[in-house]
Amino acid sequence: INIPVFQTDLLEWYYLNKRDLPWRREPNPYKTWVSEIMLQQTKVDTVIPYFNRFMEKYPTVYDLAKADEQDVLKSWEGLGYYSRARNLQTAVREVVDTYNGEIPNNEKELASLKGIGPYTKGAILSIAFNQPVPAVDGNVLRVFSRILQIEDDIAKQSTKKEIEQYVGEIISHQDPSSFNQAIMDLGATICTPKKPTCMFCPVMEHCQAFQHGIQEQLPIKKKA
Ligand code: ADE
Repeated sequence: INIPVFQTDLLEWYYLNKRDLPWRREPNPYKTWVSEIMLQQTKVDTVIPYFNRFMEKYPTVYDLAKADEQDVLKSWEGLGYYSRARNLQTAVREVVDTYNGEIPNNEKELASLKGIGPYTKGAILSIAFNQPVPAVDGNVLRVFSRILQIEDDIAKQSTKKEIEQYVGEIISHQDPSSFNQAIMDLGATICTPKKPTCMFCPVMEHCQAFQHGIQEQLPIKKKA
């Protein structure tokens, strides 16, 4: 891969084609955080109305921190995985109590918050704070397993590490936020699990799997 050309091809496509999503309008770190938690096990189309209602009801960390837990869980009803909502409120209270209401912009403090793992940490640092750090979820693993033609099991920790390291090397330093969101949009709209539409892909020229016609065979995911 020619890294500067890859970055330009991806970012130009994103600037023209980015999805209009509520957490991308007037973004702030709190919106990024809430949206990334909701999106962890739930599809974008399902999340949108929940996210909008949640922001109306709890527009800031202070509103969420002082809310009644049962009310927060009610707002989450239908999204499932309710520990996400409980952990989010616990962490938001910690942000209010310990960090003066400011969501941390560094790895160490973010990682200490309940419910924030490596993916969410990377998503907040890159999307909200524009820091060049990877945010690798299942979609990103799929996209890069194809681009790099990685034929190892993506469920393996070593494969994830390899991809994460690679993303850290090629992420744009000009616009890390858009770079990571572009990969997410690519995975959702073009580099889909089944029948990827490579003809519309802005980075097909960089994609090893496409060059070899094996995009539909990747990623390799062995059952546990
Ligand atoms: N999936 C996870 N995070 C996302 C984001 N910020 N935008 C679109 N899809 C996503």
